[in-house]
Amino acid sequence: MTFDWGRFYTFTKVSPPWPLLIHAASLAARNGHALDLGAGAGRDTRYLLEQGFEVTAVDADPGSVALLSALPQARLHVVQSSFEDFAFATYDLINAQFALPFTPRDRFAEVFGRLKAALSPSGVFVGQFFGVNDQWNSPDRDMTFLGRAEALAHLRDLETIEFTEEDADGHIADGSPKHWHVFHILARRPSL
Ligand SMILES: C[S@@+](CC[C@H](N)C(=O)[O-])C[C@H]1O[C@@H](n2cnc3c(N)ncnc32)[C@H](O)[C@@H]1O
Repeated sequence: MTFDWGRFYTFTKVSPPWPLLIHAASLAARNGHALDLGAGAGRDTRYLLEQGFEVTAVDADPGSVALLSALPQARLHVVQSSFEDFAFATYDLINAQFALPFTPRDRFAEVFGRLKAALSPSGVFVGQFFGVNDQWNSPDRDMTFLGRAEALAHLRDLETIEFTEEDADGHIADGSPKHWHVFHILARRPSL
């Protein structure tokens, strides 16, 4: 089963940045290089640019890449790539809002390991994992859903600043109902 990302972008292209990303940006040691993984219609990329970051915005979807490329910014690098194939550099902040769970489950540990290694000392990671009770956790979707202990295990080598579990009925961007099981994460790579 695949997602209609174009429809998602229609609903989110004028959305404000995610509050957790705003919090994360306020904790970054410097407004240097940020990575926005699964940048979508660019709500967070825009915010990071406004805060003075140099931003690499990555998304596999050509519709996202077209929207991101239309943002008029010299400090923006748009990369069309899957998370699995992306060649990480080093970043002061890595943002992945509602993005990493779309990684195929057999690639998740490796991708997240490379993500962590791409954080500079004191670099901040902000994003979500999905939990096993999420409504999208079905055999026809090759995504990654984690138990709470598994989610925490992936964060073992980071300093966790926030780890909030949401297991509740809610809505998706177009207003349709959905049961969400989400771990909202804000964490930092220890300084040297
Ligand atoms: C739910 S949207 C979130 C977009 C944005 N972060 C936001 O919060 O509005 C997920 C985004 O991840 C992208 N995506 C999904 N799977 C991906 C993958 N394996 N590699 C790269 N991008 C992917 C989709 O194209 C989509 O733009």
